[in-house]
Parts: sequence; C-alpha cells; structure tokens
Amino acid sequence: MQKLLHDATTLAKLRDTLEDSFSALPLVASKAEVIPGEGPENAKVFFIGEAPGQQETIERRPFVGRSGKLFRKTLAEVGIDEKTVYITNIVKARPPENRDPSVEEILAYKPFLDKEIEILKPQLIVTLGRFSMAKFLPDVKISQVHGRLHKVKWNDVTQYVLPMYHPAAALRSTKMKESFVEDFGKIDKIIDWVGEQQQNRQFSEEVVAHLF
Ligand code: URA
Repeated sequence: MQKLLHDATTLAKLRDTLEDSFSALPLVASKAEVIPGEGPENAKVFFIGEAPGQQETIERRPFVGRSGKLFRKTLAEVGIDEKTVYITNIVKARPPENRDPSVEEILAYKPFLDKEIEILKPQLIVTLGRFSMAKFLPDVKISQVHGRLHKVKWNDVTQYVLPMYHPAAALRSTKMKESFVEDFGKIDKIIDWVGEQQQNRQFSEEVVAHLF
C-alpha cells in the first residue's frame, strides 16, 4: 500500500488506491463502502469532517446527509460555490451507528488524508468538529478556538487551519449554529489574506489566532 500511495500523485489515482486498499481498511467490507473526498484538484479551501453517515454511504459522497445539507447550504449562503472547494473526512467509511471514530480507525485512514493534503496543497484547511481539529491542534478546546485562524507547522509545511464546529453540532444548538454560520462568513476574507501572505512569503511560525 505504501508504494501505491507514493505513486498516487493525482486525486483520481488516490481514489483508485483507496478503493483498491479496502480489504486492508477498517469499517468496510467492499469497495463501495469507501467514501472518497470530493472536489477539484485546484481547490483553495479543504474541508475535513469526521466520517460518512448512512446517506453518504448510499450516495458515495461526503456531506450529503442532514448535516451535509446544512454545510452545503451555509457555503452557498456565504457565496462559496461548493464545486470550488474540496470536501473530505478523517475516516472514509461509516462507523456503525455513527459512533465516534476510534484512534485505530483514524490512523488507518491517515495516509489517505495526508496524501489528499499533499496533492492539493490547500491555502486553507477548515476542520469541522473536534476529530479533524485534533489532527492539527491537539491541545485545544473547540469552544475556545472555533473561527480563529491558526498557522501551524504540519509535516514540515506551513499550513493555515480554521477550526469550526461540526454541522451536526450546529443542528443540535441554536448558539452553535450562529457560530457555525458566522465562522463560515470569514472564509473568503481569510483566503484573500492567506494569498497575500504567501505572495509576500511572510512565513513566521506564530499562531495567528485573534487576527480574524
Ligand atoms: N457527513 C460526512 O461526510 N462527514 C461528517 O463528518 C458528517 C456527515
């Protein structure tokens, strides 16, 4: 699998590798149960959720169930065309009863998520919920950092990360829904700012929380 992953230099090849690896992956009994990421290779914004649910498994697309509908509706409301962004999950198959993914499951799918990031080199990674947030920001509480831009060194690359609540949490609480929508409204401005930083090559290592 390592060699196949190494050679998977495009999203199409990575999707094939993911599907062909199904027998070595947890939570899946067939290729069809693996749900790959979705979006163009030149996407600037890269969303990471938790794991597919029932509807995602039926349609073989991330974020198309109840929380996915809120996610896609909010994107449209803030003027972002969903076809221009990349959408994926930390674990690419449905845990039974939609339980939380285990550490072993997260680790098993990690090489695929890492490769997606390596191929896309996104300007901004938006984490949806605490599991994907913990990949970049392991020691923080989502209630304290959501909507704040962070600059992290990750796999030797400077990466901008915007943690947000998961849409399922936004569906459960009016307060979280307000924060969720407000945080989405920052993405466009952040993308412009990150673009300027990259042009000016102003790469210092501080966390840029509180800027947005
Ligand atoms: N659908 C997904 O694809 N991911 C989630 O985290 C939730 C719903």
